Amino acid sequence: MKRRTFLKRSLTALAIAGAGTGSLFLPGKSGFSATAEAKGFTTALPVPPLLDNLDKTGKSASFSINVQKGEVEFFPGKSTATLGYNGNFLGPTMRVRNGQRFRVKVNNTLSETTTLHLHGLHLPAKWDGGPRQPVPPGTTWNPDFIIKQEAATLWYHPHAMGLTGKQVYYGLAGLFFIEDEISDRLDIPKTYGEDDIPLVIQDRRFFSSGQFAYVQGMHDTMNGVIGNHMLVNGVIKPTLTVPSGLVRLRLLNGSNSSIYKIAFDDKRIFNVIASDGGFLERPVPMKGIVLSPGERAEILVDFSRESRYAIISLLVDQLRGGSFEAMRIAVKGTGKIRKMPRALRKGEKIDPSEATKTRRFIMETMSMGGGRMGMGMSGRRLTINGKKMDINRIDEKVKLNSTEIWEITNRSAMMMRMPHSMHLHDVQFHILSRNNNAPPLHEQGRKDTVLIMPGETVRIISRFRDYTGVYMYHCHLLEHEDNGMMGQFEVIT
Ligand code: C2O
Ligand code: CU
Ligand code: CU
Repeated sequence: MKRRTFLKRSLTALAIAGAGTGSLFLPGKSGFSATAEAKGFTTALPVPPLLDNLDKTGKSASFSINVQKGEVEFFPGKSTATLGYNGNFLGPTMRVRNGQRFRVKVNNTLSETTTLHLHGLHLPAKWDGGPRQPVPPGTTWNPDFIIKQEAATLWYHPHAMGLTGKQVYYGLAGLFFIEDEISDRLDIPKTYGEDDIPLVIQDRRFFSSGQFAYVQGMHDTMNGVIGNHMLVNGVIKPTLTVPSGLVRLRLLNGSNSSIYKIAFDDKRIFNVIASDGGFLERPVPMKGIVLSPGERAEILVDFSRESRYAIISLLVDQLRGGSFEAMRIAVKGTGKIRKMPRALRKGEKIDPSEATKTRRFIMETMSMGGGRMGMGMSGRRLTINGKKMDINRIDEKVKLNSTEIWEITNRSAMMMRMPHSMHLHDVQFHILSRNNNAPPLHEQGRKDTVLIMPGETVRIISRFRDYTGVYMYHCHLLEHEDNGMMGQFEVIT
């Protein structure tokens, strides 16, 4: 019930956002024409290579990541200039275990600065890979620390000041899995690329030349760049072939600024088993799930009735844009017979009375002085608590080992009603409430990114443990982040 109310409310709010901004920018009607449409569903879904080069003792994992230029034919016969990690577009999946020593050598072969940020990871501030840890062209960066975190599907992407949106758009993003005793113990699909499949969902806009049409003016900056071609693991309209039985899909909304509702064409019920930071207490049955940029969900889909050949479509509704048949799933052959697990892990809550401080954050999209249409960029602002990001300013100081409640409000002035997606570095948090209501079941696990609709107030609670130093919090609509909707918190003793 709650979930449905939330979805309905979200859709209404988005409809309003659409009405406010539609005349300013309409995806698909803005002069960026689609080039020759790919035939569709003939390409097998590529699965990113798995980097799992653990040492013999299993005590450490070390990886090497090359940040490089590439070229991809998203449309037959037209090549697009891209960026990739160890390849042309996107990057390999790095897999580690809780307790392991993790090392990665990041080699920047680009002609501009980049960083490598591990989104969702609890880690020492100096290895966070945010704007404070630039990797200049031609240099390497070598993080080395211990993983202190339970099983989860995280991801990595660049985070250089003002360049995040562009570099992600061109292809820099990859997945990062943590495994542990809980994931070992569960009888769920775990064969990477066979019945445990990562899906990096993104959208892109292209010029008819085949090149990406990234930010083309202030409307894109304010709205975020909304694409009109859906990519799954870097391919438009791929087909995934799976065995019948239970299949685990690890979903990442890897888009710059789109909010997705993900569902199947036959409206089948699937089970959500994990949120951003790991397993939920028990599977949550749903027919559709909303993910904002940066959010992940792991779902189990039961294909055991499709024991003979069947095709199911994965639909992605871009809430401020189009509806897409993003991918087809062909069920072929017999997989292992498994029952849907009834419980996943012990529930975990942080008692609000543990919190020693409540901080308030106002995320604001506003037009200064009137808000008339056609106003110049100078009149529009994206802020948190009235401020734009300044790397020389620490916005919040948090005591090491303390527990805090952060109350985040999306306040948008008329005509500028915009969803935001709040993300905190270093920590996983729990959502206490959305507009004073308990969050829906699938949002009751660990989170690091949360969608906040216009007018909404979300309260989250988190513990700040182990590490001191400076971390970021920001809107994960990357065009908002790049244009100032970011702040810094310092964990101090
Ligand atoms: Cu996914 Cu600060 O980022
Ligand atoms: Cu992050
Ligand atoms: Cu935002």
